[in-house]
This record gives sequence, structure tokens and C-alpha cells, in this order.
Amino acid sequence: MEAGGRRWGAALLPLVLLLPLLLLLLPPPVLRAGSALPPGLLEELRQRRRDLRRLAAGGAEAEGGLRCGDVRREAGGAVLGSGFTKVVVRAALAGGGAVALKSVHGAGREVRRCEQRYGEPAGCRRLAAYKLLKEVMLLRRLRHPGIVQLHGQCYDGGGEPEAGVTAVLELGAPLEMIQLLQTPWEERFKICLGLVELLFYLAHSPLGSIVLLDFQPRQFVMVDGNLKVTDMDDASTEEPSCEEDNDCTLDFPTKSFPLQCSSAGKCKGINEKRNLFNAYRYFFTYLLPHSAPPTLQPFLSDILNATGNLQYGINETLRAFEKVLHLYKSGLYLQKRPLLLKDYISLRGFRTEEAEAYKCWPSYSHLGCLLSVHSPEEAAAICSSQPKCQSFIITQQRTWTGRPLASFQSSPTDLIPDTTAVVYIKRSASLGRRL
Ligand SMILES: Nc1ncnc2c1ncn2[C@@H]1O[C@H](COP(=O)(O)OP(=O)(O)O)[C@@H](O)[C@H]1O
Ligand SMILES: *[C@@H]1O[C@H](CO)[C@@H](O)[C@H](O)[C@H]1NC(C)=O
Ligand SMILES: *[C@@H]1O[C@H](CO)[C@@H](O)[C@H](O)[C@H]1NC(C)=O
Ligand SMILES: [Mg+2]
Repeated sequence: MEAGGRRWGAALLPLVLLLPLLLLLLPPPVLRAGSALPPGLLEELRQRRRDLRRLAAGGAEAEGGLRCGDVRREAGGAVLGSGFTKVVVRAALAGGGAVALKSVHGAGREVRRCEQRYGEPAGCRRLAAYKLLKEVMLLRRLRHPGIVQLHGQCYDGGGEPEAGVTAVLELGAPLEMIQLLQTPWEERFKICLGLVELLFYLAHSPLGSIVLLDFQPRQFVMVDGNLKVTDMDDASTEEPSCEEDNDCTLDFPTKSFPLQCSSAGKCKGINEKRNLFNAYRYFFTYLLPHSAPPTLQPFLSDILNATGNLQYGINETLRAFEKVLHLYKSGLYLQKRPLLLKDYISLRGFRTEEAEAYKCWPSYSHLGCLLSVHSPEEAAAICSSQPKCQSFIITQQRTWTGRPLASFQSSPTDLIPDTTAVVYIKRSASLGRRL
């Protein structure tokens, strides 16, 4: 990999400066490049610099963060992922801990296409680096749990330090949609809620309403079960100018939405709406509905309908998600169910052997049937609905909503004394063997 040839460590000139300042001080590319670049490439470079300056104005705060010497590529430099423009590798921090290093992908589609067109490797690399610099600036100015954290950035030495920019990011795991589809509903709901909270923040961000123009699952990573956006170079705060409503059509492959041209001559709200519909088509439709608690289904259908036709804005969407969360956490969604706990004997001070767990889906553990419940009553309802279930315990483990995990077991086995535990055993199950 081309990035492997860089010199990391003490030999490297650690150029950690005021980034926005650095950009403003740099002479325009035509002077620094020495030889004249093709006019087309120069124009593209100019445009990206303009974009960068706009972001740099207003945020010239001091640089904290890391030096290139503080991060060390791990042997082999495991590639975590790559896209058209950037490549991300895993690295270790000198003080311990792992991070992700993002740099220009020299063999990526963006740089290659530029080289084919202009035949200028250095200029093309710089063009791609400007995208990463833009992303770094956005990450510095936007802070949210739904945005990957920037620890710092450093620059490879040489005549054009900014072309050798590397962003040091918190380490995530690329999003695996197939895997997510197999996780419990509560975890999928968390991802969707996290996305909605992110879009709410972006709609009301300090930089204005931000749209993610390249909005796809591969622009996100998971960090500790939380969804975070990592690819921000295609983010924009611009909303198109317009003269009439016809200028403000929001187009998607399957659908288009006519929006209004505001009195100020802007397609106001188009950024927020584009994000929301993308969230609907790439995330909500896959992750939200299936295997949700039946009483929550109508609320989720409403959310899908109202985001799928853009009837809701992001504020209403967030409110609707928070309502579902409240119903779920409070157990209100369990209303009016037959009470089944009476069919179980509870034995305080015991737990059961874990080996007797049977498998169910979607379980929090591959080894058994471990499900999130609101109460022993809900666990009893689950146990009664599963033919294999003979007993269950409520564990000390909690999910992100604070609900306990219950472990369901098939054949009754030995009881193990445990002062903190309670075992619930089906009355119809034979007790003779165990006691
Ligand atoms: N912090 C991170 N931790 C782990 N993997 C990441 C991280 N950031 C990005 N990636 C992976 O690297 C890929 C490329 O990064 P991205 O910023 O999307 O580049 P591009 O602009 O070329 O699409 C992503 O699709 C993702 O799989
Ligand atoms: C979606 O919402 C619209 C407008 O509120 C309503 O007319 C329509 O019946 C709903 N569709 C579904 C499938 O719920
Ligand atoms: C949405 O919420 C934000 C923040 O609370 C508020 O500033 C904004 O006016 C609200 N927008 C709408 C359309 O209600
Ligand atoms: Mg990407």
C-alpha cells in the first residue's frame, strides 16, 4: 500500500499547526507547484480551496491533538476500509490504544481518474487531499456522539505538507448491514435513534443545516454499538438558490419531492429532507420494523410512512422516536397481556447451570437464549411462548435502555446457590430431579 512507505516516528517532521491558519497562509497552488498545472485541474483545485476557506473562516481555534510521531502503524497496517478518495488503516498510539488513520487513497478511483484526465500525480493527490482536509475541518468544528471523533491530524513532510495530511480518528468497525439485520430489535432501534439524533444535530448545526450528499451505509462505522458517520467530505451547508418552486425538486431514484422556494430565494429545508429520506431508504426500512414488539409496530409504521413521504421533518421524527423509546423503556407497550408469571415457581437464592441454555433468535448470546425483558412477567410470557423453555433467570446484565437480560433454559438442571439470583421454573416442569 502506498501509505506504507511513509516515515512514521521521530524522523518525521511533526507539522502540527493551526490548520485553518495554515490553509490561509499557503500561497495559491499555481505558485507553489512551480510548473503550471493544466487549467482544468487548477480550476478544480481553486474550487476546493474556496470550499476550505469558507470552512476555515470562523474557526481558527488552537490545535490540540496528536503528532505523527505519536502514532505507529501496526505491522502489516491492517486496512480497515477504503473508498473512492481515502483509505483507512489501523494504528497503535504510543501511549496505548488503537486508532484509525485516514489518508488519501493513491490507488483510489478519485486520484486515478484525475491522473487519467490531467496526467499530474502530485496535483491530483493534492486535489484529493483537499477533500480530506475539508473533512478534518468539519470534524473539528462538529462534535456529536454520532460523528466519529477526530483525535488530531498530522502532515507528511515535503514541499506540500497539506497534500500529505493524515487524520487520526477514533477506531470503528465498518458497518455490516447483513450482520445488523441479525441483531435484536432493541439494538437496531438504537442505531436508527442514533442516526435521527445525528440528523437533528446536522439540521441545527453551528455551521447551518448540513446535508450528507454521499449518504450510504458505508460512510458510517460502529463504535461500541453506536453508529457514527465517518465520511464527511461530501457534506455541504449550501441550499440551492431558486426562483420558483420548480427549482426545488428533491430527486431520488425511486421518488421525487416538490419543495417550496422560500421568499429569500432558497430551497429552504432541502438539506434536512434529503438526509431524512436517505435515512429512511438506507436504514429505517431495513432495521426498524422487523421483530419489533407487536404493540410498537403501529408507531413504527407511522414513522416509516411519515419519513418515506417526507411528511415529518427531523424534529417530528426525533419526537416520534423518543416516544417509541419511552413506551419501550417504561413497559407501557406490554399493556393488556395475560399474566403468566403465576405459572412459575420462583426460587430466590439460586441460579441454574448455563449449559442447559437452548438457542433462540435473535439472542444476545450465540450460546443460548438471552433476551432483553422489561420484567419477570414479560420473561414469563416469552418462556410460555417457547416450547423448549422450562425455566429462566433474570441476569444482572443490562442493555442500553437499562432493561435486564433474561436467560431462558430448556431441561431443568442443578440449581446453584447464588444469593443475588432468582430462578423461575415452570410449574408444569418436573421439580423432582433437581431438589
Ligand atoms: N474511524 C474508522 N474506523 C474504521 N473504519 C473506518 C473509519 N473511518 C472509515 N473507515 C472505513 O474506511 C472506508 C473509507 O473511508 P471514507 O471516509 O468513507 O473514504 P471515501 O471518502 O473514500 O469514501 C469507510 O467506508 C469505512 O469502511
Ligand atoms: C401514510 O400517510 C398518509 C398521509 O398521512 C396516509 O394517507 C396513508 O394512508 C398512509 N399510508 C400507510 C401505508 O399507512
Ligand atoms: C426544531 O427544533 C429546533 C431545536 O429545538 C428549533 O430551533 C427549530 O425551530 C425547530 N424547527 C421546527 C420546524 O419546528
Ligand atoms: Mg466513503
